[in-house]
Amino acid sequence: MKSIGFLGVGHYVPETIVKNDDFVARGLDTSDEWIVSRTGIRERRVAAENEATSDLAVKAAEAALKNAGVSPSEIDLIVLATSTPDHLAFPSTAAIVQHRLGVPMVPAFDVSAACSGFNYALTVAHQFCLSGAAKKVLVIAADCLSKIVNWDDRSTCILFGDGAGAVVLGEVAPGFGLLSSDLHANGAEATSLIIPDGGTRQPITPEIIAARTNKIAMNGKAVFKLAVSVVGPSIELALKSAGLTIDDLDLLIPHQANYRIVEAARERLGIRENQVFMNLDKYGNTSAASIPIALSEAVSTGVLKPGMILALTGFGAGFTWGTNIVKWGVGK
Ligand code: UT7
Repeated sequence: MKSIGFLGVGHYVPETIVKNDDFVARGLDTSDEWIVSRTGIRERRVAAENEATSDLAVKAAEAALKNAGVSPSEIDLIVLATSTPDHLAFPSTAAIVQHRLGVPMVPAFDVSAACSGFNYALTVAHQFCLSGAAKKVLVIAADCLSKIVNWDDRSTCILFGDGAGAVVLGEVAPGFGLLSSDLHANGAEATSLIIPDGGTRQPITPEIIAARTNKIAMNGKAVFKLAVSVVGPSIELALKSAGLTIDDLDLLIPHQANYRIVEAARERLGIRENQVFMNLDKYGNTSAASIPIALSEAVSTGVLKPGMILALTGFGAGFTWGTNIVKWGVGK
């Protein structure tokens, strides 16, 4: 079997920084102390009014292509994970990005799996590469949660941020790259984290806009418990299917939602604090983008080194969750 791995990584976050105290200044009943102690978030990036998900995605993809030394003309598939497409339903954000990057008229499609979107997109792209249907794939995860959050709901608006991360997948030396994946969904928990209205179940009306039920609604406690219960087992399952154990794991890059969720998983797995890469304090929860943004920073800061065994673990609305195990490096 061919080995498929990461030829390059990149990310982009919008310029505007919203600090915890900015919410207080806007009159929201919260505090920096509450947000930091309950979540670990200190600030997040917010897209400009005229900036959409594809704008972030294009910049992250350009950075990943440059990092890989791969030109847009070599890409033969784009898989883009997002829950915040430029346009409701169609066209796909992937198609918009394909045109703007100057990638040839190859297949390009969106994947919807909320905060697990990068794991889902990566796994789909991996399968295309393994089957020979694609050779070099651009996998992008981009989200603009600021556009779908209710800025007056203190239980959600302080959590989320905007950003994009991207990777170029292709053939690497034997034994390197993606080793296994573990993906799950449990629709019984669909309402725990949901945009209740504005879709085909309940199309938009003036009443919905007034009630803001077309914005994120979350049962924070339920999501917290679900996340804590699935992250550890998913990592263990993915390691097992790669023929590895927790002792082989060098670095975990988890979805950056809440440091307390990650701490609970870390303790369960019995791994050290310095084996977990976190940048949640700077960006908040950027949904599908959080893992590739962290991956890009782990590479650029030298934390992630060739030969390391890496776990990428996502969880979020659906409820969806999953892990990809990677032997980092191209092995050249
Ligand atoms: O990508 C996956 C997406 N989501 C997540 O991973 C989120 C998972 N859940 C969480 O991270 C946590 O549940 C939260 C951070 C959202 C909330 O933390 P918590 O410790 O579960 O707090 P809580 O919801 O039980 O609320 C405790 C109190 C409540 O007040 P009362 O009822 O005790 O008087 C809330 O109204 O804190 C209040 N509260 C706040 N206070 C100040 C809720 N949000 C805020 C806030 N500032 N921003």
